[in-house]
Amino acid sequence: MRVVFMGPPGAGKGTQAALLAAELGVPHISTGDIFRANVADGTALGKEAQRYMDAGEYVPDTVTNAMVRDRLTHEDCRPGFLLDGYPRTVEQVAELDAMLRSAGQALDVVVELTVEIDEVVGRLVKRAAEQGRSDDSEDVIRRRLEVYAEQTAPLLTTYSDRGLLMQVDGMGEVEQVTTRLLAVVVA
Ligand code: AP5
Repeated sequence: MRVVFMGPPGAGKGTQAALLAAELGVPHISTGDIFRANVADGTALGKEAQRYMDAGEYVPDTVTNAMVRDRLTHEDCRPGFLLDGYPRTVEQVAELDAMLRSAGQALDVVVELTVEIDEVVGRLVKRAAEQGRSDDSEDVIRRRLEVYAEQTAPLLTTYSDRGLLMQVDGMGEVEQVTTRLLAVVVA
């Protein structure tokens, strides 16, 4: 099963992707988590990524694409994967297409988690207070939402045109959203 998760910051992609990946028995690949792990480890990749992340901007496609290309060659991706937060740009869509084509593979479904804007802002402000993630400040949240609207939301049309897009209501309790997702992805 090869799944892509899309949705604005705070939609619940990471929360739901982890649960669904476990259910499907495939790795959960979050580009944001990989970047944050590299920041924490002080790697060259982390140092490069951090300045973009802290500003709410996307890490350059060349960096992100190379990272995902490497990750998808790992043995654990053979039965499939759940991509969380990739692709986010037109160039990343083209790169993922090329990666899959060269491996003789294809995506099964692209899931969009839909959540009202006030709700995502509320979730991220709450996380800022609880966890202090460096990109959860009010001005950076605003920029992340703008970048999503400008660069990533248009990709939904691309996947819809390909007949791959499934929209799932991301409002409500975590368990309710998981139930909706399972009905769409596993059914
Ligand atoms: P990334 O880590 O992917 O951040 P994001 O897309 O902004 O998403 P979030 O992690 O904030 O939200 P989410 O939708 O995953 O929701 P979550 O489950 O965490 O990326 C960070 C940065 O890395 C980017 O800004 C960019 O700089 C860089 N990057 C990453 N990928 C890139 C790419 N492909 N290209 C270029 N750059 C890239 O939930 C959010 C909060 O809500 C949590 O506290 C959670 O507990 C809570 N929550 C979840 N579900 C519910 C619910 N149902 N009810 C109440 N609270 C809930």
